Order: sequence, then structure tokens, then C-alpha cells
Amino acid sequence: MKLVVVGTGYVGLVSGACLADVGHTVICVDVDALKIEKLKSGVIPIFEPGLEEVVQRGVESGRFLFTTNLKEAMEGAQVILIAVGTPSTEDGSVNMAYVESAARDIGRAMTEYTVVIDKSTVPVGTTEWVHSIIRHETSCDFDVVSVPEFLREGHAIQDFMKPHRIVIGTHSTKAINILLEVFSAFQCPKVIMDERSAELTKYAANSFLAMKIGFINEIASLCERLGADVDQVAKGIGLDPRIGADFLRAGLGWGGSCFPKDVRALKNLGDGLGVSLPIINASLDMNTMSRQRVVDRLVSLFDGTIEGKKIAVLGIAFKPNTDDTRESAAIALMQILKEKGADVYAYDPIAEFHSAYHGFDVKIGESPYHIAQDAHAIILATEWHEFTDLDLTRIKQFMADDVMVDARNFFDPVRVKEAGFRYLRVGNK
Ligand code: UGA
Repeated sequence: MKLVVVGTGYVGLVSGACLADVGHTVICVDVDALKIEKLKSGVIPIFEPGLEEVVQRGVESGRFLFTTNLKEAMEGAQVILIAVGTPSTEDGSVNMAYVESAARDIGRAMTEYTVVIDKSTVPVGTTEWVHSIIRHETSCDFDVVSVPEFLREGHAIQDFMKPHRIVIGTHSTKAINILLEVFSAFQCPKVIMDERSAELTKYAANSFLAMKIGFINEIASLCERLGADVDQVAKGIGLDPRIGADFLRAGLGWGGSCFPKDVRALKNLGDGLGVSLPIINASLDMNTMSRQRVVDRLVSLFDGTIEGKKIAVLGIAFKPNTDDTRESAAIALMQILKEKGADVYAYDPIAEFHSAYHGFDVKIGESPYHIAQDAHAIILATEWHEFTDLDLTRIKQFMADDVMVDARNFFDPVRVKEAGFRYLRVGNK
């Protein structure tokens, strides 16, 4: 089947490449001509393991194409995916300008019955709103369907190719039949529901996972007082299938471009509707507290102040296997350290730190050993696999003091202690 994807950002590119990989002909459209030129010559604008290979395979097969011309792309295409950005605005609401302009352009370019899929994470009611925008531009028959995306950065190809479910939000039987054909290669439950429920499913899924992390961080704070170990508690509860072992890693809490935005969006929704959402509100508070608690424990090891202390931070990205630093917990942590007067150095295998964007200064080192030089404490903030093999004894020798804070419970405690560190883990006395 011929499909069009509007937007070559993270979701658009991954969805387009994977749909081409399962046999569809996919044309990705973007208004950014430079980006399209780069994609045509094989330059992938994002870091995502495995994506380059899938894109290349699609391009070589002739089934994965790029253009800036939506009208041409839509000729003969029965399905079009909207996968443009929906960033948070300053007040926490969702900026829908890109969705609006994509919908308008689609309406203007439409010449025959089309199923318009909304893949972007959008407020409840958007499917109907997009329908009205397109209706204003065309007299063609069409359906707008909400098919939310559940990809994780760093695992996006695997998540797309082996989904746990595909949610299809529409009342139209015609659209359902076409989409069941589009997704026929994916062996998973196809959950058909109304548009609003599909839109809310996405927010509910992300907020539930965020709440789960918040919960284990809350238990971690108790463990720190009681002398229990949060990793063991997580294992003990996670083996119950009603609870599940995933998303029970205590640490600095969640960041990224999705959880913070989506949990805030639900909070705002509740506030706007006058519906009380105490769990959502507590999740946001708990996330902030997780970072603060790590810093408070560090400060207590330095007799109440870290002013003038050199702190080395391992990891800048919001999680491993991505260069994404949006709302990164590592950066939130560094900001608190700076506010407390520490001299902060950081290292990340891939992610960069931009002082102008983040609003404060951090010194960037070339390696973990480099930032450890004369440091009073070293904090593991993002659990990159490459940190597994660090020579902890060598790191310790470079340092001016002996504190290691493992804010992701990543290192083997025996190795850290053998290297001679005073060692703090999350949720462990
Ligand atoms: C998240 C969801 O997991 C995806 O299903 C969803 O499609 C995506 O948002 C989205 O809405 O687009 P992502 O933001 O890529 O994916 O990252 P996750 O792997 O879910 O991690 C989110 C944050 O939670 C990270 O900061 C991570 O460090 C933190 N986390 C995760 C923990 O602190 N503990 C855990 O046990 C798991």
C-alpha cells in the first residue's frame, strides 16, 4: 500500500522507515528542504540505534522516499500519517501549530478518500478538531483516526516492529479495514476504540509508567531511612505479574521529551476541567523530590555544604542510547548542584550540553577520567553501558576526595567499595 508520512522527526522517520520495511511504499514529507535533501543522501538527523540500517534498506528497495511536495506525495496514497511535533508551551499546554498546518495542507492536497492517521501525541479532542480543519479545505470523503505511538527512544525500531498493541481510535468501519491492512504485518492485539479514548490512552500509558517510577522512588526514600534496599523491594514486588518488573528502577526520576510533557498535560487537563488528579500531581512532585533527595544526601556527606566542591557528573542524556537531553534528570541534578555553589563537570558519550539553552554553565570533559581529576564527588546520572567497564580505582586516584553517588544504582557495590569510595546508592542506606 502507498502511505504518506508528514513530518520527518523522531516518530515520522521511525514509523515511515519501519512501514517501508514491512513492504509498504512510504513517502516522507517535510517542509524543511535541507532536511529532506540530507535524508535523500542518507544523513539521518537523529541518533537512534538501528534506524540508519532500516532507512537505508528502504531507500535501496525504492519503497522509502522523501519530498517536500505534499500534493505530489499524496497522489494515489490512501493513508497519510501526521507525525509532526507537539511541543509543550511555556504554560505547559501543547503547541498544536504544526498539527494545524499539516491538517490544512492535507485538506488542500486531498483528491480522493483518505484515512488520516494522527500519530503525534495530542490533546483529547484533536481528532475531531483535525477533521474540522480538513473538512474546511476539501469536499472529499475522508476519516481521521487516532493511532497513538508507544515508541521508546533508543528502542524505537524494536518497539515499532514488535509492538505490544496497536490502538486504533475511530468510528469508521472503512478506516478500520484499511488500517488493519496497513498493520497486518504486526502480530499484536489491534485495539479498536473511539477517538477520544485512543487519545487519552497515550497520556494514560505514559502517566502510569511515570507514576510507577515515582512510586518506586517514594519507596526508595523509605528504604534510605529504614536500612532496606529498594532494588530488592522492586524485585520482590515486580515478579508479581499484576505489578510487573519494568519501570521499577529507582533513581533520579524521569525526564525526556514525553513523560514530563504528557504528565503535565494531564495535570493541566484536570485543572482546566476542575477534575481532581491527586496521583498525577504527586507524580510530578515526587519526580522533583527524587533529584533533590540525591543532592541532599550528597551534601550531608560534606558536612552540610558543597560550595566550591568539584562534582563530576557521568551522563547528560535523559537516558542511555540517546543524544536527547530534553528535561534530562542529569541536567536537573546539575542545576541543583550549581545552585548550591558546586563546580560542576560533566561527561556524556554522545549528548551535548548547551549552556545557552539550559540557562547555566557546566564544564564538559573528554572522558570520565578527565572530569574525575581533583573532583570531590562523582555522580552517575545516566546509566550508559560504556560506564560498566570504567576503571574505578583509577578514577578514585584522580579525585581529591572519595565520594561516589550512584544515582541510577548502576555499579556493582563490591567493585565501588574495593576501589575505596564512600558509596551512596538510591534507596539504600
Ligand atoms: C516513553 C515511553 O516509554 C514510550 O512508550 C512512549 O512512546 C514515549 O515515552 C513517547 O511518548 O513518545 P521515552 O521517553 O523514550 O519513552 O523513555 P523511557 O525509556 O520510557 O524513559 C523515560 C524516563 O524514565 C527516562 O528518564 C528514564 O531514565 C526514566 N526511567 C525509566 C526510570 O527512572 N526508571 C525506570 O525504571 C524506567
